[in-house]
Amino acid sequence: MNKPVYILGISCFYHDSATVLLKDGQIVFASQEERFSRKKHDESFPKLAIEEALKHAGITAQDLDAVAFYEKPILKFFDRILQTTMKVWPRGFVQYHMAMQEWMPKKLWIPHIIRRELSYKGPIYYPSHHESHAASAFFCSGFPDAAVVTADGVGEWATTTIGHGKGKELKLLREIHYPHSLGLLYSAITYYLGFKVNSAEYKVMGLAPYGEPKYLEQMRKLIDVKPDGSFALDMKYFTYEYGLRMTGRSIEKLFGQPTRTPESPLEQFHKDIARSLQELTDEVMLNLARAAKELTGSRYLCLAGGVALNCVSNGKILRSGIFEDIFIQPASGDAGGALGAALMAWHGMMQGERLPRMEHVFFGKSYNQTEIEDFLTKNRIPSEKIPAVDLPKHVATLLQGENVIGWFQGRTEYGPRSLGNRSIIADARNPNNWKKVNLKIKFRESFRPFAPTVLEEKASEYFELDRESPFMLLVADTREKYRAEIPAVTHVDGSARIQTINRNQNALYYDLLKAFDEQTGCPVIINTSFNVRGEPIVESPQDAWNCFVHTHMDYLVLGQCIVDKKKLPPEWKRSSEEYLKKFLLD
Ligand SMILES: [Fe+2]
Repeated sequence: MNKPVYILGISCFYHDSATVLLKDGQIVFASQEERFSRKKHDESFPKLAIEEALKHAGITAQDLDAVAFYEKPILKFFDRILQTTMKVWPRGFVQYHMAMQEWMPKKLWIPHIIRRELSYKGPIYYPSHHESHAASAFFCSGFPDAAVVTADGVGEWATTTIGHGKGKELKLLREIHYPHSLGLLYSAITYYLGFKVNSAEYKVMGLAPYGEPKYLEQMRKLIDVKPDGSFALDMKYFTYEYGLRMTGRSIEKLFGQPTRTPESPLEQFHKDIARSLQELTDEVMLNLARAAKELTGSRYLCLAGGVALNCVSNGKILRSGIFEDIFIQPASGDAGGALGAALMAWHGMMQGERLPRMEHVFFGKSYNQTEIEDFLTKNRIPSEKIPAVDLPKHVATLLQGENVIGWFQGRTEYGPRSLGNRSIIADARNPNNWKKVNLKIKFRESFRPFAPTVLEEKASEYFELDRESPFMLLVADTREKYRAEIPAVTHVDGSARIQTINRNQNALYYDLLKAFDEQTGCPVIINTSFNVRGEPIVESPQDAWNCFVHTHMDYLVLGQCIVDKKKLPPEWKRSSEEYLKKFLLD
């Protein structure tokens, strides 16, 4: 028997560092470093995640056939960063100083760091940043032929690309270069609205339905949008080329209001700005989709890059009918670069076979029942063990009404979303649950809606969606007649950010929903990530316990063991503030 081919993908030193291990082209492990280091958006070398990946496969770094890094560090550093800072000199001094102090030692020495950290002597491949994004979508899509659109803040030079994937080949056909970037425009407005850049862009998306696109015309001054999919920013409104802030006075003058102070009250103005930005993003993404169709003639579209996490735009592209079907990489941010880089090496360098369509994201570490019981016993935590076969029915009964449950099962999710293994779940029929989960468990602003998980076979009955959405990356309307039935997951404009589930994707989570449907006649529940605001999604039983005991969650389901908050001795009562202080609030 031939020795399997192992390729390790790595993305790091910007944000959300991650690793992916491929065995003969199949994903055997994928996870972000933040899950292990407990530092949200951790950008450091993913040493802990790599250790887990190798342990999972039972190999050492010496067994790796190749390592793939998700971008070309020399091109990024010497070419783009130095050229840009020189272009705007002396205003670029701050960026230059930062580059020399922080980025150069890391970025320039990436080969050295990889070899040193892994004691690895084999080949290292460097596809470009956007090739990595594009590969993470196309090679996981199962489509034989597809157009590929990527859009993010910036890679080396490219910020947006249109590509064409065919079989084992992938080519980028068009690129838009820095400083012209849809991702950076989105981040600049995120900054203007008083939210944290590279972290809270999804809050702006959640805010948009409360506003009207009243500032769309002013916003058009920021960006010249062409029908052929290209665009150019008017750089007089942006300061990211030379400063540490994204925007300055000119944007405040344009919109007639100062930059919002973080945590200050959100006014109608901010909601209208968010809505105007959403409309503009939709328009640019639709133009790109049309251009991609024209260039490739493909029936299918693949999307990746941070902007592809904008599920509202994704839903509009799908409904436009430009393409028959679309695939969106669930780890569309830079964490997904690790997967794309590894797949570029597998297909480009090794001419490997395509993997089937990516059906789920459960590629992280798991903790078995014995480990869970050892944890509970060691910490003297009272719990009730339920036979595996009865667990879905038992938890479905607890879910009814106002109980909020921490649900911890199997392997962790790869990418930014909890999709049923590290989730906080609640009854979507109860309008109070929206408030309870937002304010008492997540400790976050109450304007943001929750996403529903729905049985795949009933998705089109409840929502205006005619296909699966397993990664919670499509927004569609809740059908009129069900809006009152599931208020906790229906946004103010009637929309919902939907996750569909079938049994192949996650049998236990599917069985839980099925049991809930049988007991209540409703196939929809609330699913939100298992963490508090600013905390990485829980990884281990210890993390899950910490989050549970410091919040107002009612039950914790760790594997087959159920912990009931009411039955905990009083000494377990913990202050939320003390816990929240540990995390940088975003
Ligand atoms: Fe990126």
